[in-house]
Amino acid sequence: MNAMPFPAAPPAPRFFAVVPAAGVGARLGAPVPKQYLEIGGECVLVRALRPLLDASWIAQVLVVVAPDDTRAQAVCAPLAGANRGRLQLAPIGGATRRDSVLAGLRWLAARAGATERDWMLVHDAARPGLRAAALGRLRERAGGHPVGGLLALPVADTVKRAGLRDEIVATLPREGLWLAQTPQMFRVGVLRAALERHPAVTDEAAAIEAEGLAALLVEGDRRNFKLTTADDLDLMRALLGDARRPQ
Ligand code: CTP
Ligand code: MG
Repeated sequence: MNAMPFPAAPPAPRFFAVVPAAGVGARLGAPVPKQYLEIGGECVLVRALRPLLDASWIAQVLVVVAPDDTRAQAVCAPLAGANRGRLQLAPIGGATRRDSVLAGLRWLAARAGATERDWMLVHDAARPGLRAAALGRLRERAGGHPVGGLLALPVADTVKRAGLRDEIVATLPREGLWLAQTPQMFRVGVLRAALERHPAVTDEAAAIEAEGLAALLVEGDRRNFKLTTADDLDLMRALLGDARRPQ
């Protein structure tokens, strides 16, 4: 008789990250996709990846790029060398952000052994301003929540609804309104099922919500805004571009 009296405890969940970087940046309108623009001599994608790679509790970071991408390999090479095997690149991006994220999830499950119970962080390549403190808050708070959660900021301005010709038709109470950021962190199995069932979502939290689950809002960081328009790029360059400015 060598049966164990108690079943072994399940292994502690691991943390993985997917960084969707397969967009073209149409609204920003630069000659290259916005993740390849430079801010203060450093590529936006590198800036987005660094806080994830600096977090030693994240086992692997997968960058999902477009199948015809020609830049990612060279851009990521210095980071890959320093992070031996923790940074992977896959040219499996799809037509939408959701398609790229889902492809990344499947890749990590098939190739890196991410299991249903592991945590998956999804972080936009177009957010170069994430800092360790906000990332740590997400791990702490969302990691202790049954569903998981996302970084977000409470809305500070008064919110107006516009009608035709941009004339105000209503002022909405801002209590309880938040603006979603990334990373967003959910269990691999739940997130995969949610994204498979709800293809029209613009972020992971919307897919989770469509499953009837309530994700936790964790206070983000104003500097963690997404580069969407040329104005955002100017602002981020003013914040991060001057190396002499304390960060
Ligand atoms: N993304 C992706 N695959 C897509 C579309 C977007 O991986 N098919 C990524 C982008 O590279 C970006 C993130 O998702 O890191 C957020 O998307 P968004 O800000 O919309 O970026 P773009 O789609 O590149 O920009 P635009 O919508 O202005 O074309
Ligand atoms: Mg887009």
